[in-house]
Amino acid sequence: MTRMLVVEDDAVARDLLCEILRGDGFDVEAVDDGAPAVERAGDGRYDLVMSDVRMERVGGLEVLRAFTEKSPGTPVILITAFGDVTGAMEAIGHGAYDYVSKPFNVEELRLTVARALERRRLSAEAGAAPPGGGKGNQVAEIEGKSQPMLDVYKLVARVAPSTATVLVVGESGTGKELVARAIHNRSPRATKPFVPVNCTALSESLLESELFGHARGAFTGAVAAKRGLFETANGGTLFLDEIGDMGPKMQAQILRVLQDGEMRPVGGTEAIRVDVRLVCATNRDLDAEVKSGRFREDLYFRINVVTVRMPPLRDRAGDIPILVRHFIAKIARREGRAEASVSPEALAMLGRHAWPGNVRELENAIERAVAIAKGNVVLPSDLPAEVYGGSPVAPASLIDDRPTLGELEKRYIALVLAECGGNKKRAAEKLGIDRRTLYRAIERSGDASDGDDESDS
Ligand SMILES: Nc1ncnc2c1ncn2[C@@H]1O[C@H](COP(=O)(O)OP(=O)(O)OP(=O)(O)O)[C@@H](O)[C@H]1O
Ligand SMILES: [Mg+2]
Repeated sequence: MTRMLVVEDDAVARDLLCEILRGDGFDVEAVDDGAPAVERAGDGRYDLVMSDVRMERVGGLEVLRAFTEKSPGTPVILITAFGDVTGAMEAIGHGAYDYVSKPFNVEELRLTVARALERRRLSAEAGAAPPGGGKGNQVAEIEGKSQPMLDVYKLVARVAPSTATVLVVGESGTGKELVARAIHNRSPRATKPFVPVNCTALSESLLESELFGHARGAFTGAVAAKRGLFETANGGTLFLDEIGDMGPKMQAQILRVLQDGEMRPVGGTEAIRVDVRLVCATNRDLDAEVKSGRFREDLYFRINVVTVRMPPLRDRAGDIPILVRHFIAKIARREGRAEASVSPEALAMLGRHAWPGNVRELENAIERAVAIAKGNVVLPSDLPAEVYGGSPVAPASLIDDRPTLGELEKRYIALVLAECGGNKKRAAEKLGIDRRTLYRAIERSGDASDGDDESDS
């Protein structure tokens, strides 16, 4: 049986945590301070430790240090206050496997625990092989456990087994291709090919012969017959990236394949039956493209059976610490060297930046910073100028999608809390409310995201 140690001085939170974990079948021991936890670190008895950061006598960072030293195989998850991005950064920076925030989001909690145990299992099996190095659970490669990402995982799990076409939308660099691959990898087609095609990179006639292939002599230079990507993807998944950039002729041809289940190579006479699942992506507003007549409405309906919306990074700053750690570990694996560390000031800056280029921009920033950092420690001056300068989240982004007042309140509070490094006293001052009102609002928004799952009652 999996044994866990819970370290939490707040009795209500402690009981709740124990109840959830025991309900999931774990053997849970609980203590109310870091001191007894530190004493037990050498026992090697625990598969997982969850510890509050701030406790009266001995805090979570000391618990973390004790376990890192004496029981390095035991993942430690730290418990931070809601919106405390700096605290979360610190936790990860000190080597915590992950963090969860209070008040608990049960779904996030379960996912975090499951991932930590999975990682422990993998490293035990492979003799401390790097996690995520192998194939493993593909969604595990997608990092982040903010509510919008949890919603993405849920949707992916739901649509993957079917052959429904999926449209992945989102700003540049939000992970659209990653999600397309995850859908394929979790589908019954996983052993068959996943074939990505970028519709922007090729001219219309080239794209046509790439997708459908061509017969020998179909056009000047077609000295031999060529198989198209639809055929290559047979039995698997074809990923049409940037489909919004596709011209009218190609749109008509794709529509025909979707309707008839067969295609004809350029210059060919025989139709070929293909069994291909289509996943498409775009960073354009296809609704608007349809209205303006640039994109066929009938094709739009065909490719858009299910829509997965990738949230921009600025709406999920809580995912930044984990992404930072993920990229640093990735670089270390690739270069075969020790993982770089990131100074607390640099971490705080990363957490405050608005990331218009989303995860890709963050990944590039980390790549660059690690490359120029001296002594394997990333300092603020190693970060790109726009991050170092500290451009705060653009206020307009708060209301871009016309949220409800309740949602806006939640976002605004999260933003101000993040700007104040999770300090509730300062955040309350900035918001012009007293601390208790802020606590209640945080509680409320925690409840709101917990309740997303249940049907309205
Ligand atoms: N949630 C995530 N966890 C880990 N890595 C991520 C995540 N999201 C994106 N990435 C990484 O960021 C980079 C960009 O992701 P991806 O190519 O999937 O984005 P995209 O939405 O297709 O971007 P574009 O619109 O520019 O094509 C990739 O290196 C990808 O591995
Ligand atoms: Mg892409």
